[in-house]
Amino acid sequence: GAAATKKAGPITFKAIPPNKLDTLIVPNGYDHAVVMRWGDPVLPGAPGLDVTRQTARRQSQQFGYNADFVGVIPLSRNRALLVVNHEYTNEELMFPGFTTLDAMTVEQVKVAMAAHGMSVVEIERAGRTGRWRAADGGNLPYNRRITALETKFRFTGPAAGSPLLQTAADPQGRTPIGTLNNCAGGVTPWGTVLSGEENFNQYFVGGDAVADDVKPKLARYGISTTARYPSGSRKWERAQERFDLAEHPNEANRFGWIVEIDPLDPQSRPRKHTALGRFKHEGANVIVARNGKVVAYMGDDERFDYLYKFVSDKKFLKGDSGVARRHNLTLLESGTLYVAKINGDGTGQWIKLAHGNKSYVPGMTAVEVLTFTRLAGDKVGATKMDRPEDVEPSKVTGKVYVALTNNTNRGVGTNPGVDPANPRVNNKHGHVLELVESRGDNTADTFAWSLPIICGDPADPSTYFAGYDKTQVSPISCPDNVAFDGAGNLWISTDGNALGANDGLFATPIEGPERGHLRQFLTVPTGAETCGPFITADDRSVFVAVQHPGELSGASLDKPASTWPDGDFAKPGVVVAWRLDGGPIGS
Ligand code: FEO
Ligand code: CA
Ligand code: CA
Ligand code: CA
Repeated sequence: GAAATKKAGPITFKAIPPNKLDTLIVPNGYDHAVVMRWGDPVLPGAPGLDVTRQTARRQSQQFGYNADFVGVIPLSRNRALLVVNHEYTNEELMFPGFTTLDAMTVEQVKVAMAAHGMSVVEIERAGRTGRWRAADGGNLPYNRRITALETKFRFTGPAAGSPLLQTAADPQGRTPIGTLNNCAGGVTPWGTVLSGEENFNQYFVGGDAVADDVKPKLARYGISTTARYPSGSRKWERAQERFDLAEHPNEANRFGWIVEIDPLDPQSRPRKHTALGRFKHEGANVIVARNGKVVAYMGDDERFDYLYKFVSDKKFLKGDSGVARRHNLTLLESGTLYVAKINGDGTGQWIKLAHGNKSYVPGMTAVEVLTFTRLAGDKVGATKMDRPEDVEPSKVTGKVYVALTNNTNRGVGTNPGVDPANPRVNNKHGHVLELVESRGDNTADTFAWSLPIICGDPADPSTYFAGYDKTQVSPISCPDNVAFDGAGNLWISTDGNALGANDGLFATPIEGPERGHLRQFLTVPTGAETCGPFITADDRSVFVAVQHPGELSGASLDKPASTWPDGDFAKPGVVVAWRLDGGPIGS
C-alpha cells in the first residue's frame, strides 16, 4: 500500500506520556517484539538459558548481558546481521541465591566474563512490516560471540607493540584478550562495527602496588591507587590474574580503546585501534568527508572530560569489491587525533594531539598521547564537558550531535563552574550540543556550535527546545545515544531519567520550523535504560536495547524488580519496533 512505499519525512506520531510501567510502550499505530534476550542461543546448537545450570561454556554460546550498542548490517532485503555489544553484568540478577561477588564461584565469575563482549546474530524479516526475528535454522555462519573471557584482539596503529602495552602473557604487546564495558558504537560506511571500551577501570585491582610514576596515569582513568581491592571492583582477578595490576601493571593499558569488528568475516580477528586514543570511550561514529577522508567523532564519558575526533590519512574507496573493502578496513589504523576546545563566541577549535609518531603535546611522545589521552587533553586545555556520550554526525547534513548526559558536579565545591557549552550548575538532566564544521568540511580544524536542546521538564525555565513551543514537547532527561532516520530527524535515547519516570526514546526534527519539537516514541520497563537506537536504512524498523531492566537497589534474581520480558525475571535484550501499516518509523 501507500504507507509501505512512503519515504521518511516529518514526524507525525503522537507522543506517549511519561510512565513507570514494567513494560515497553510504543505509540498508537506501532508494535514491538523482542528479537534477542540474555541467554538466547547465538551459536548453532547452543543451549537455551537455564539460570540453575549456567556455565561459562554455555554463556559463551548464548546472547550476552546488557546489550548497549545496536547495529543492523543488511545481507539482503530480508536478511541482516544484528551486531550488539554487552556492556556489563548484573550478577545479582543473573545468579540464584546471589549474595556478594566474593561469594561467587570462580565458574560464576567466568560466566560474567563470557556475558561481556559482543554478539553477531543473523536476523530475518518477519512478514511485510518492519518486524524482524532471529533467523531460523542450523546454518548461521555469521553468528558469533566475542567475550571478555578468551577472544583474541589485535592492536593497530602507532601504540601497537609499545612497551606500555606489553605484558607477561603478551610480550609483543599486540594481542589483548577480550573487550570490556563496551558502551555505544557505530556502523562504518564499509560495514564494520565500532564499539567503545568505557568504564574499564572497575575491572582492575592492585593499583596501590604499582610504581609511583604509574599511579597518576591509573588515577586519571579512575583506577584506585590507594586501595588493594577498591570498592565496586568486579573481582575478576579471582578468575584471571591479569586483572591484578600488582602483578600485571600494563594490563589496564590494553583497555579503553575503540574496537572494530567485521561481522561479515566471522574468522576475522577484532582490532583495537590505538590511533583513536585511549579514554573511557563511549563510542565512535564515522562519516566520509567531502575530500574522501573518514572522520570518527568520539566522546569520553566522564564528568569534565573531553570530545575528540580522528581524521584518517587515507581516503575511503567506494564499492563493495574486495580491493575497496580491504583498503577501507585499514582507514582507522593511521590518522590524526584532535580534542575539542569550545569558545564563548559560538566557535571552537579541534586541537591536534598526535599524528602517526608525531606528538603535538609538550612533554609527551605520540605513544604516550595515544595511551594516556586524557592527560594530553588536560595539557592542551581542552573544554571540560558534561559527560560526552554518543557523538554522531547526521549523514543528511554532516552536522554533529553530542549527547551530554548530565553532570551533577558542575559548579559544585571546587569543581569547574559553568561555561558557554555547559551552561547549568548541578546539571541533572543534560543537553545536546550541535557542531557545524567550518565550510561543511568534517576534516576542518574549526567549527561553530549551539545547544539545540537543554533537557528537563519543559516547565523548568532552564530548559530549551530550539525555541519551539514548550507546551508541545515531551519532558526528557539524561540523553545518552543519538541516531538519525532517513529524513535526518534526530532520535535520542535516555539513561537515568532524573524526572522520575522510566527511560525512553525520543524523536525531533532538527532542521526547519519543527526543530525542537521533541516527542517521546517509546519507554522501557522498570529499572532499564534505553540503548541503541538504530533505524534501518529502509526506515521501517527501529531497534533498541533494553539494558539492565530491574536494576534497582535490593532487587535480585530471586526477588526481581522487573519481570520483563517473559513474566518471570528480568532479561536484558534487543527489541524491534515497527509501524503496523508498514510505513516509515516516526513519519
Ligand atoms: Fe555506558 Fe556512557 O554510558
Ligand atoms: Ca551510554
Ligand atoms: Ca548512535
Ligand atoms: Ca549513560
